[in-house]
Amino acid sequence: FKMSHSTFTKIEENSEKKNTSEKGRTTVIFSLKNEVGGLVKALKLFQENHVNLVHIESRKSKRRNSEFEIYVDCDSNHEQLNEIIQLLQKHVNVVDMEPPDNSCLPEEKMSNVPWFPKKISDLDNCANRVLMYGSELDADHPGFKDNVYRKRRKYFADLAMAYKHGDPIPRIEFTEEEVKTWGVVYRELNKLYPTHACREYLKNLPLLSKYCECREDNIPQLEDVSRFLRERTGFTIRPVAGYLSPRDFLAGLAFRVFHCTQYVRHSSDPLYTPEPDTCHELLGHVPLLAEPSFAQFSQEIGLASLGALDDSVQKLATCYFFTVEFGLCKQEGQLRAYGAGLLSSISELKHALSGNARIMPFDPKVTSKQECIITMFQDVYFVSDSFEEAKVRMREFAKTIKRPFTVRYNPYTQSVDVLKDTPSINSVVEELRHELDIVGDALSRLNKQLGV
Ligand SMILES: [Fe+2]
Repeated sequence: FKMSHSTFTKIEENSEKKNTSEKGRTTVIFSLKNEVGGLVKALKLFQENHVNLVHIESRKSKRRNSEFEIYVDCDSNHEQLNEIIQLLQKHVNVVDMEPPDNSCLPEEKMSNVPWFPKKISDLDNCANRVLMYGSELDADHPGFKDNVYRKRRKYFADLAMAYKHGDPIPRIEFTEEEVKTWGVVYRELNKLYPTHACREYLKNLPLLSKYCECREDNIPQLEDVSRFLRERTGFTIRPVAGYLSPRDFLAGLAFRVFHCTQYVRHSSDPLYTPEPDTCHELLGHVPLLAEPSFAQFSQEIGLASLGALDDSVQKLATCYFFTVEFGLCKQEGQLRAYGAGLLSSISELKHALSGNARIMPFDPKVTSKQECIITMFQDVYFVSDSFEEAKVRMREFAKTIKRPFTVRYNPYTQSVDVLKDTPSINSVVEELRHELDIVGDALSRLNKQLGV
């Protein structure tokens, strides 16, 4: 006779809170002993105890492959159930008791869910699926005919491909030409930031200089930037060879991991790049990833994408594109940029705030249908009042995504808890209770200090 500890706890808890005569639905699972009429005898016990059987079926055992188990859903109160279990043990092997099936997602439903990383090291399985460029460049890429540049790009691609979770990010000795290219981008953009970048960006950019040696004549090392971000918001950086699929990229965000390119754009045109490069990552993304409310917003898009179907992932990726890459916000009555695609592109940053660009309020339902343009300016930009507002809208939108479960990030284990049954939800409730205790304690101490 085996019964899981959690089952015991559940029954005891229920009996404390509920009247023992209150009826509830339970599934009793048992396997038959090798005797004639065993099943009939077992079912008769339910009848004799006036317990109504709602559903009965046999299933292949999840515990022992070769065996079958009988699942009986019944309506009974606590007392009846205990009695039946005792009587049943004489005739069958009682294996377990479960709450009814609707509190736990059927296996078939979960089997349609696309694979997704459950723990941070699982990102090793999806960070190398690079879609564009990597070390191979398209014919219209500024570096296509430059063999030295292509060789250099291969060097960066190989480093990123060899990277595993937990490794330090390799330090790069940037060439004089690379530093010069970076310097032009840095100088020109810094002229625009005071009048074009949002307040959070302007607050955090100097920290990058202070802690990561971000200067016109020095390209910061990703390892230093990663350590800096971890202290600010828990975000870390993973080197990547080029564009990832939206699914893989967003999956990283769920773990507060930001996939960053490490190469520098081609020197022939420092103010243009058809793909993300380290100038875009460092000057566009990093200052905002150091902002707690923005970090949370980014992670929530990532969490919503885990296990979602392709069309939902596409919608989330489009929302990501028009916020994290090309988002605008209003501050003190002025339009300001917070999107990294804007904050790393001189011409588009000017254009977006020129008064000639089309601006619409950020609304995921509308925004998710907008076309993303990679090599030209966007047709439209979306504006939010604050990251908080954008987060609330994304949260509402995420609830409409079809997925048979909810996920929650566990920062202690750096893993994703899939909330698909009552025990997993119970453990969240326990944690919340503890958090509320802390809040209560803090408030009562504060009240004492204030003499309230
Ligand atoms: Fe980007």
